[in-house]
Amino acid sequence: MTGTLADRVIFITGARSGIGRATADAARRAGAHVVGADIDGLETMADLDLALALDVSDPDAMTAAVEQILKTFGRIDGLVTCAGLSLTGSATDMALDDWHKALAVNLTGTMLAARAVLPAMVAAGNGAIVTLASIYGMTGSPGNTPYNVTKGGVLQLTRSLAADYGAAGIRVNTISPGFIETPMTTMLQGESPMRSAFINMHLLKRAGRAEEVAKTAIFLLSDDASFITGANIPVDGGFSAAQVILV
Ligand SMILES: NC(=O)c1ccc[n+]([C@@H]2O[C@H](COP(=O)([O-])OP(=O)(O)OC[C@H]3O[C@@H](n4cnc5c(N)ncnc54)[C@H](O)[C@@H]3O)[C@@H](O)[C@H]2O)c1
Repeated sequence: MTGTLADRVIFITGARSGIGRATADAARRAGAHVVGADIDGLETMADLDLALALDVSDPDAMTAAVEQILKTFGRIDGLVTCAGLSLTGSATDMALDDWHKALAVNLTGTMLAARAVLPAMVAAGNGAIVTLASIYGMTGSPGNTPYNVTKGGVLQLTRSLAADYGAAGIRVNTISPGFIETPMTTMLQGESPMRSAFINMHLLKRAGRAEEVAKTAIFLLSDDASFITGANIPVDGGFSAAQVILV
């Protein structure tokens, strides 16, 4: 198959829905062999080249998943870590379980996926990893402590991975989406003052689509991004570029 990812093996976590699913579809269109993993919903990934049930926060399950990918395809060229949870609350009112869960899935889960694929990428002398952070990894937001903290951590994890593995030919970049219409943001579906205010903070005055994030992921995975590593690419309709005054 032709395309910017022709015959590459791309592993996508959180591939059942939203940005992960759109990235899986875009990777297939770009010619890749796509492995999707998610905590459930295997049947919704049945059209992919390999679908795995996986809790990204489980180190043994992650190791087993990557072993299965290597056994099936012989290599892993790219990883996109889309698995994530939105958990809210301030330090005094959040459930402590939510704090631990957000750290386990959003941050540790991203690290475990990278840690599992890196030995094969290093042995091959190349590879590309794309992590999913958020506008809320770059700025604070009220009542969103577990999410903000873990996404800030993903940004630093990405830079740390880029620093440690660049010499081995591995590129590691992150995407920081703004408001994207996916199952994660169903609470913002339908007209509401909250939705209008949030959209107004995006300079393009609209929500983004999962496909718009997926296209950036495909670019970062591809040789078109061959001199880009350690970067944070906001796909946020300008949210992070200006502070919009709400009146
Ligand atoms: N939608 C947005 O507005 C937005 C904005 C910024 C960042 N993001 C980030 O983009 C990524 C994808 O989000 P989305 O909007 O597509 O959300 P989504 O809820 O549609 O997809 C997330 C997927 O992760 C899976 N998942 C959750 N916990 C898991 C676990 N322990 N193991 C394996 N899979 C697990 C879910 O089942 C789901 O399929 C997330 O990291 C999210 O934080 C989304």
